[in-house]
Amino acid sequence: MKYFFLSYLFVAAILVSAFGFRGSKSELPPLEIIPDMDQQAKIKYQAASDFFSDGRGARLRVKNTVPMGFDIPTKPAADGAKPARVAFSNGLSYYDTGKMGDFYGDGLPTEITGDAAVFNDLFIKRGEQRYGIHCAICHGASGNGKGVTSKYGILTAFNFQQPGNTDPANAAAFRADGAIFDVITNGKGLMGGYGGNITLRDRWAIVAYIRSLQLAAKESGATLQ
Ligand code: HEC
Repeated sequence: MKYFFLSYLFVAAILVSAFGFRGSKSELPPLEIIPDMDQQAKIKYQAASDFFSDGRGARLRVKNTVPMGFDIPTKPAADGAKPARVAFSNGLSYYDTGKMGDFYGDGLPTEITGDAAVFNDLFIKRGEQRYGIHCAICHGASGNGKGVTSKYGILTAFNFQQPGNTDPANAAAFRADGAIFDVITNGKGLMGGYGGNITLRDRWAIVAYIRSLQLAAKESGATLQ
């Protein structure tokens, strides 16, 4: 019994000397048994650093690059044009989600149609360019679902030209504008989402361009497959 009390005291003394009294303050750095992430080789924002020759920790952006999420000029600055506000989805409106309540909407949102610039073909051109950059590799330049990746095993990319797929008369297969917008934003099945890469306006421009591809295919009577 004596030894029990002695060892008990001993353990208590060790614990108190290691961890201190609860609530007591110390000037010394805290004891770190498992090193947490207090110590890191990093530069805090706005802090100085010897690493760079100008002594600043924060770096200026690389010349001729545009930080995403800010204003991206739609026209060269020399044009004197006011840069359009660039946005990624951050709301629940039709413009942001492609949905009206619980359902996909059809037609371009008023944020787009209210803009006179849409009525010249720059908007479709922008869509064509963005489609060429982001979608054509899988869906094909003409939208027939046979982009270059079809040669390497991705055989299921959606065929925009297939009759019915985007024809409102075909209720079972119809993809409304908002549904296409949603697929660009969030992806679907095997396709990944592009919401973080393509701005809102550009996503709608792609939707508009896909519609023009379909119209062209329909009117030229291209053999659809
Ligand atoms: C890496 C290849 C790839 C790229 C790039 C790609 N897609 Fe897809 N997309 C697919 C595949 C694969 C499917 C079929 C997905 C499934 O059903 O699993 C698909 C399906 C779709 C669908 C139909 C979804 C549905 O309702 O069934 C739409 C619409 C679509 N893509 C639009 C686009 C647009 C617009 C772009 C460009 C922003 C794009 N995709 C870029 C591979 C791609």
